[in-house]
Amino acid sequence: MEIGLPGARAGRSSGAPHSTHPKSPLMPVHVVKHPVVTHKMSILRDKATTVQRFREVVSEMTLLLSYEATRDLDLRPCVVETPLMPMDTFTLTGEDFVIAPILRAGLGMVNGMLKVFPEAKLAHIGMRRDEETALPATYYENIPSPLGASTVILVDPMLATGGSLSAGLHLLRSKRPKVLKAICLIAAPEGKARIERDHPDVDVYVGALDDRLNERSYILPGLGDAGDRMFGTL
Ligand code: PRP
Ligand code: URA
Repeated sequence: MEIGLPGARAGRSSGAPHSTHPKSPLMPVHVVKHPVVTHKMSILRDKATTVQRFREVVSEMTLLLSYEATRDLDLRPCVVETPLMPMDTFTLTGEDFVIAPILRAGLGMVNGMLKVFPEAKLAHIGMRRDEETALPATYYENIPSPLGASTVILVDPMLATGGSLSAGLHLLRSKRPKVLKAICLIAAPEGKARIERDHPDVDVYVGALDDRLNERSYILPGLGDAGDRMFGTL
């Protein structure tokens, strides 16, 4: 399909642009409530779900959450020829998009994001939580630069204490992206509070807000260890 710039032709039909998501500066962690999200989350939580199905559903969930996270993307007017008539409509501006998974488990969310933004660049951040202290340590970093014109979306399935996501956001923020957001599958109240304290200006989209952390800083009821379930290393 050819997409042209808008002109002054008569008799066009017009499509309305999508509405933008209202910003709420005091609540940057948004819980996406949708029956399909809840349904898919139940599959992820079920300990009987196979590795193959777990990977598939993580990808599908990411795709669903990415719609919410990108509601405010800019559109530009264009004209298309439908089979019946010319139409004034809108297309994405094609802004520079960067997906930033926190390794390992964030890797499982990349394909879902690429289904929506196939041209996106990738920024890899390797981070591991210490088993005893639950503190994150960065072991790898490969971020395209410059990021000044980029919309960067950090992806990590689990927002537990919030240490990993907060550190990842600090790292990306230091590269001064145009827009910085994050998508997680499940958050604990402790992680939500940490991000709202450390990064009150960053919108984070999550598929569920669970009850609490256990003594090992795992999310309850949660889904267990996301990386192990995704990569079959249980
Ligand atoms: C998990 C998860 C997050 C982190 C969340 O990764 O993917 O990165 O824990 O915990 P936090 O909010 O308390 O920081 P993990 O360190 O287990 O590594 P993995 O992805 O390699 O399994
Ligand atoms: N990391 C996980 O994979 N799961 C949790 O519940 C917490 C951290």
